[in-house]
Amino acid sequence: MQNVKLIKIAKKLNAELYGDENTLISDVTYDSRQAGANSLFVAVSGLTVDGHRFVPDVMRRGAIGVISESEMPSDFRGAWLKVENARHALAQAAAVIYQNPSHDLDLIGITGTNGKTTTTYLMFALAEANNVEGAMLTTVEYRIRDKSEPAVRTTPEASDTNKFLRRAVEENCKMAVMETSSQALDLQRCDDLRFRAAIFTNLTRDHLDYHLTMENYFAAKKRLFDGSLGEKPGLSIINVDDEWGSKLASELKSQNQKVATFAQNNSADLTAHNIEVSLLKGTSFLLKTGANELQIKSPLIGKPHVYNMLAATSAALELGYDLDLIADGLSRCIGAPGRFERIAHDGDFAVVVDYAHSDDALLNTLKTARELTEGKIITVFGCGGDRDKTKREPMGLAAGKLSDLVIVTSDNPRTENPLKIISQIEIGLKQTNCLYLTISDRSEAIYRAIKEAKANDVVLIAGKGHETYQIIGSDKFYFDDREIALEALKIFNYR
Ligand SMILES: Nc1ncnc2c1ncn2[C@@H]1O[C@H](COP(=O)(O)OP(=O)(O)OP(=O)(O)O)[C@@H](O)[C@H]1O
Ligand SMILES: [Mg+2]
Repeated sequence: MQNVKLIKIAKKLNAELYGDENTLISDVTYDSRQAGANSLFVAVSGLTVDGHRFVPDVMRRGAIGVISESEMPSDFRGAWLKVENARHALAQAAAVIYQNPSHDLDLIGITGTNGKTTTTYLMFALAEANNVEGAMLTTVEYRIRDKSEPAVRTTPEASDTNKFLRRAVEENCKMAVMETSSQALDLQRCDDLRFRAAIFTNLTRDHLDYHLTMENYFAAKKRLFDGSLGEKPGLSIINVDDEWGSKLASELKSQNQKVATFAQNNSADLTAHNIEVSLLKGTSFLLKTGANELQIKSPLIGKPHVYNMLAATSAALELGYDLDLIADGLSRCIGAPGRFERIAHDGDFAVVVDYAHSDDALLNTLKTARELTEGKIITVFGCGGDRDKTKREPMGLAAGKLSDLVIVTSDNPRTENPLKIISQIEIGLKQTNCLYLTISDRSEAIYRAIKEAKANDVVLIAGKGHETYQIIGSDKFYFDDREIALEALKIFNYR
């Protein structure tokens, strides 16, 4: 990291500067606890608190000054940069101070309702298979080569992303892949990043508590592709089986942007044929790239993952990776933890833990399970409290449509009454003929599901995936669906 003169930052931000132009700055942050000596603090009027509250605190910690949309208070002693948009300024200042790390490696961004995490893991694996050192930012973990730390949020704030990418460059990474959630795009966390390629997986209803309408949601995702971030991506990689994806592809093409499409059911640059899915053997398909055909075998289970593989392959080809090594990488990548993760045991039924926590994801996961077995599907799930309430009934409906037995339980109830959440899910379930039970204790619900399982059945434990906690009230307890499932299997004498 180099020290940057305040004037350089002010110019980049187009800010009104009050203070000594030559002061050297070495860091920028939105988090008062991180504001140390020689840093700038961006006071963002956030979703819950106003960053201006922390200004006296950051100045005591030795910060040089503040970036803000407000006028400098008359009694303020320090540097003040008045800007039009504090969030955008945070991204721009981070890019200047960390010297645009996204220019020093191949950065891939992935957006869409479902499949971001899985596609990120696939892309990371394809780099590995091609002996390219990589980094990734995902819902599950942040990773630089083989060093991993748990993720704080799917897409970090711009200063954290730039700091992370600078570290990746210093550790000789040549590529980085990141999930760019629609909320992060909307909150300008990815502004001023340069994407070598940007992937659109799909767009279905979720996160409508934040975006309110599908049009807003689409508009947020579009920011990754249309130059709103500052630069257009080198290549836009788009699922044209998705209605919104196909709209996006035509819009970008009409603006002469470079687009690569992928599909299972439509013609596209990259397509998948003869898809075969098996619970024990994984997924195989014939990949066609126009010029080449290649048989792909993957341990991932399900047609949705074929989309993720097509997307990652398309990005890998753009980076010049070898097609045979791509096939090799796909054959070894087990995807993201908690995404249709099979729990190993010697019983003649399957236990699967999946992160599906929207009606659409649940429906997709259940469809996958349905295609894989003649047996019964026993689904355990709940819905989070203090979050999107409109998805409870649709999730109940989705679960009821494709399961033989549903055990409705708690997810993270947070400060809501778990029984009330369960009763809202029941409204959806009652519209189906599905048999169901309600057991609000999640461990008990998982035990009961495994107890009910017979030959060829699938027990699907949905909603939490890789998460290792449950939030009840405002307390966070250790909880891992996979461990509870293993415990239950043991108790019922499977190993
Ligand atoms: N391409 C896809 N299309 C539809 N469903 C998918 C796809 N890929 C994965 N899924 C399903 O969607 C769920 C979430 O997958 P994943 O974690 O990869 O997506 P994500 O976009 O990162 O989600 P989140 O926004 O929750 O982090 C899983 O249930 C998975 O089985
Ligand atoms: Mg994710």
